[in-house]
Amino acid sequence: MTIPAAKVAKNKDRAKKRGQIGNCPDPSRILEHDPKIRIDVLDRLRNTSVVSAAQFDKDLLVELGKLSAYLQLRKYPVRKALEDKIMAAAFFEPSTRTRLSFESAMLSVGGKTISVADAKTTGVAKGESLRDIGQMFNSYADVVVVRHTEQSAIAELSEYLRIPLINGGNGSDEHPTQALADWYALLKWRPEIAFDEIPEKFRLNIGIIGTPGNMRTVKSFLTLALLFHKNINHITIFSEMADPLGDDMRELCDNSPIGINFSRDLQGSLEYLDVIYMNAIAFLGDGYRFYSEDFQLSAESKLKDDTVILHPLARSDELAVDLDDTQHNLYFNQADGAVWMRQALLLSIFDRVRNSVPDDLLI
Ligand code: CP
Repeated sequence: MTIPAAKVAKNKDRAKKRGQIGNCPDPSRILEHDPKIRIDVLDRLRNTSVVSAAQFDKDLLVELGKLSAYLQLRKYPVRKALEDKIMAAAFFEPSTRTRLSFESAMLSVGGKTISVADAKTTGVAKGESLRDIGQMFNSYADVVVVRHTEQSAIAELSEYLRIPLINGGNGSDEHPTQALADWYALLKWRPEIAFDEIPEKFRLNIGIIGTPGNMRTVKSFLTLALLFHKNINHITIFSEMADPLGDDMRELCDNSPIGINFSRDLQGSLEYLDVIYMNAIAFLGDGYRFYSEDFQLSAESKLKDDTVILHPLARSDELAVDLDDTQHNLYFNQADGAVWMRQALLLSIFDRVRNSVPDDLLI
């Protein structure tokens, strides 16, 4: 499908009006490759909990990306699609983006939200168990998004829930919907990653600053990156730890054809990297610390002209604000796109994609 130039311009104007800065790739680029949505693929999410990035294969990620693009382009009215549904956003750990973007997504498709923004305002402060809290979610909502400091909380809650649960980040384990948002941004930027076989010399070299074994956003991002092995040359993990992968991720990486490298020399490697995924804190074996200067980026860094940077945010000194106005900045688009990806996810979980887009768009 060819998207008329006027529509592309309109979308760019809209992005400008919303004050977006940095790299704002056009969502219609994903649809140019394949405009039809495979409903049989999205059906796999029907009434399903989302707890891990490992639940997603390339097809499911791409179909969610296409639906997100239609939603972002406001092609079809979805304002009432979930008007009979309630989403509980239960955040037992602080969040700006995940909770607000899920709430924004739910409200945008007509749903209602109830929210826990601080565990201290719940029975947790009086020692209430997750088991009993889970029972209450069953009574008060149709889906629950949970963030928790403890890795085990998601599995524990799942035992008692009769409604779908979405993992909004559990301790050092996973943040699957962040990874969906990360890859939505990358698919808008280079849709050929998903649809073409890129000639070897143009395949991506990705740098990940962090420890996939212990950092949830990094782990979930890397898990999805491995799905695009045909179009990724190398992934280099930049970390001061001797074993940044840990057992589970090492096994996943060992079974992938992608070359996985390890380095401490980020600055000396910048000229080779097309995508850099970074985070605010480093896990260094005995706890979390902020990154040293060696792992920081600014407009002075010797990045390739077309390198893009992803960061789940919030940031600290590792990502200088002087990068914000450059084309390296895909991180704001990554956060912005999360709203559309989370709309797509909610519509799929509640089986409302059929009601939201015309039949001839579905195959
Ligand atoms: N990306 C992310 O998880 O941000 P928040 O902690 O603000 O939700």
